[in-house]
Amino acid sequence: PELIVVTREGEERTLSADVGLSVMEVIRDAGIDEMLALCGGCCSCATCHVHVEPGFFEKLPPVTDDESDLLDGSDHRDSQSRLSCQLLMSEALNGMRVTLAKED
Ligand code: FES
Repeated sequence: PELIVVTREGEERTLSADVGLSVMEVIRDAGIDEMLALCGGCCSCATCHVHVEPGFFEKLPPVTDDESDLLDGSDHRDSQSRLSCQLLMSEALNGMRVTLAKED
């Protein structure tokens, strides 16, 4: 599946993603260094915060309490916010666009 990433500068990149990798891993592995992912994907840092476009947001698994607590620590949380390390790529998410959240 393809994943579309919008960087903080507004540059849009289309990445080809392997099913089962997290959205965070796909972005990081593409060399987009705005994706800090400091905790390596164990849902404890919130530096993988993204905004998911409407239409795809609804297809994602629900936000866990841990994820929600971390997102609450961000000044930039909105109704489309997710931690990208918690989102696994699947064919159903082909063409999903995510925007990297501003740095806190
Ligand atoms: Fe740390 Fe996602 S990479 S919470």
